[in-house]
Amino acid sequence: MQTTFRRPPRLALITLLLAAASLHAAADPLAPTARWSAYTAGRAATPPMGWSSWNAFGTDIDEAKILGSAQRIADSGLSARGYRYINIDDGWAARRQMPDGRLVIRAERFPSSVQGGGTSFRPLTDKLHAMGLKAGIYSDLGRNTCSQAYSGVDTDLPKGSVLEREIGLYGHIDQDINLFFGDWGFDFIKVDGCGLRAYGANSAKVRSGQYRALTPVLDLESVSRSNIPAVQAEFTQINAALQRNKPDGDFLLSLCIWGAADVRAWGKNYGNLSRTSDDITPSWSRLLSNFDSAARRELYGHPGSWNDPDMLYIGKGDFDADHLVEAKSHFALWAMLNAPLMLGADLRTMPQPLMDIVGNADIIAVNQDPAGNQAVLAYDADDLEILVKPLASGQKAVAIFNRGLAPIDVDLTAEHLKLRGDAPVTLTDLWTKADSTFTKETKLRVMPRETRIFRANGERALAQGVYLSEQPGSVNPAVDGVVRPQVDPTIFRSSFGWTGTKGPGERPMYAGWGGARADSTPYGQVMQIAGTPYAAGIGILVNSRLEVRNQGYRRLSAQVGVDDSAQDRKHDVTFMIYGDGKLLAKSKPLRWGQPAQALSADVAGVRMVELVARSAAGTNEQLPVSWGNAALFSSER
Ligand code: GLA
Repeated sequence: MQTTFRRPPRLALITLLLAAASLHAAADPLAPTARWSAYTAGRAATPPMGWSSWNAFGTDIDEAKILGSAQRIADSGLSARGYRYINIDDGWAARRQMPDGRLVIRAERFPSSVQGGGTSFRPLTDKLHAMGLKAGIYSDLGRNTCSQAYSGVDTDLPKGSVLEREIGLYGHIDQDINLFFGDWGFDFIKVDGCGLRAYGANSAKVRSGQYRALTPVLDLESVSRSNIPAVQAEFTQINAALQRNKPDGDFLLSLCIWGAADVRAWGKNYGNLSRTSDDITPSWSRLLSNFDSAARRELYGHPGSWNDPDMLYIGKGDFDADHLVEAKSHFALWAMLNAPLMLGADLRTMPQPLMDIVGNADIIAVNQDPAGNQAVLAYDADDLEILVKPLASGQKAVAIFNRGLAPIDVDLTAEHLKLRGDAPVTLTDLWTKADSTFTKETKLRVMPRETRIFRANGERALAQGVYLSEQPGSVNPAVDGVVRPQVDPTIFRSSFGWTGTKGPGERPMYAGWGGARADSTPYGQVMQIAGTPYAAGIGILVNSRLEVRNQGYRRLSAQVGVDDSAQDRKHDVTFMIYGDGKLLAKSKPLRWGQPAQALSADVAGVRMVELVARSAAGTNEQLPVSWGNAALFSSER
């Protein structure tokens, strides 16, 4: 006879209720976690700097080309300025050896790799390490890479049977990560996504029998045709393999799915770098589009998890030695965005004026600033943008970017910089090193395609604290409320001729994207609650949770409410401030048109503040909310 253990019914019920409650809590993405959820594994406290083979050579790579650029980095002093990673991109693999599955290097291109009966990159990585440099390698999420999908000629492509030509990570994650980091000694891996995108059963190369079909889960043209959880699952496995094979954490993981599958919202949780756009080309218009793909993601990049608008193209086309203005803009803008500074030219022949641009120590320092704040757009119009990047020292870097073809006379104001208008502001030009001082506002001429870049020193508008939008590197939209991702607005209205560049600019007016923003609503407008505009603050959709690192401040306060731009005029939103998981302050239910409520909490000793905006009903994208003037203060009141 079977004995069954019976709990007293009351206890069983209580257990059941408790289990259901904890399940509910675990399932509630807005419940506070008291921790920072963006990626901090690996070695990317500041954006990585180095060189990659792709822009200069494509798949036509060899040892001499790679070592030649590495040597120039060492000899020129660029390595001492921070350029350390020497990354081998697509084109290194000869085949996957069968039956053991070990990857084989193109020995004719990498003669030092020949060892015994096989191949190894260890001699090459040893050489790079001996030069004080780090080494990077390339692979793909799928079975095959981008060049296998898109290259017109097969000269540089892997040879052999269909299985031997499967050189991507798919089905081999642990084996390959172990080979790259354990056996071969690499420090960096770029993981491309073409294998999950270009090998559908109907693709020409699959139909002709060259490659096996792999149902695409990534679609660059369409978020809704992408399977986001499936892509995330791949990166989760890669991370687990990195932990197993590189327990000392000395690695860098670079995600390369070009902004597809809405990765700009979640890449920050899966790797150190996440590409925000398709490949850069050496043309001005492409620079603009790659810049735009990251410029409004200031809250999605942090120490350990950076936005990546792709490598530098300084040295070619619109950024060659005949185009120093454009080359300087490219460098200054990438520095301001906290983009990785990955040189992409054949450095053996890079002219000195271009070496000087990428070696500018002041601009490198802006990029490598330990606070890790990506620049925030302080002025945003069709041809002109002003970007401000708060530095760890309390100073600000400011870049004034003329996208167009006519000179612009710019009014730069203390307000743009969140500095006091009644105290002097000193600007140091990071190209010429010249200092100038102004009070309240100054006029600057910015030539076509020029970016003027300065370090600004003045008295902070908020003397006793910091606006959260002045420390985007410490604010993480863990849940940004975006349920159905929409495309970014990239078309600008024209500038308004009457007021010069004072104020925030004539911004794009139609809806798009919806992600969290610094000093802006999720759709790019100036925040406003019941008619009161807020120049500073965080704009986000409802049903969102922001994680805010607190570095010793004692009070957090904000003016909270439903933004006037909300289409939903009837549902209530409640705002909550948590400190290390405990509720510290809660607003009354607020709806559209009601004045902002002042919400404030004592956060002394709290390490992780969380800001939650919740609504029981309504559609998130119709309910943008504003944490107006949200700031941390060092005093208790
Ligand atoms: C993709 C990536 C590029 C480069 C190539 C290699 O296009 O986006 O950066 O790695 O693949 O094939």
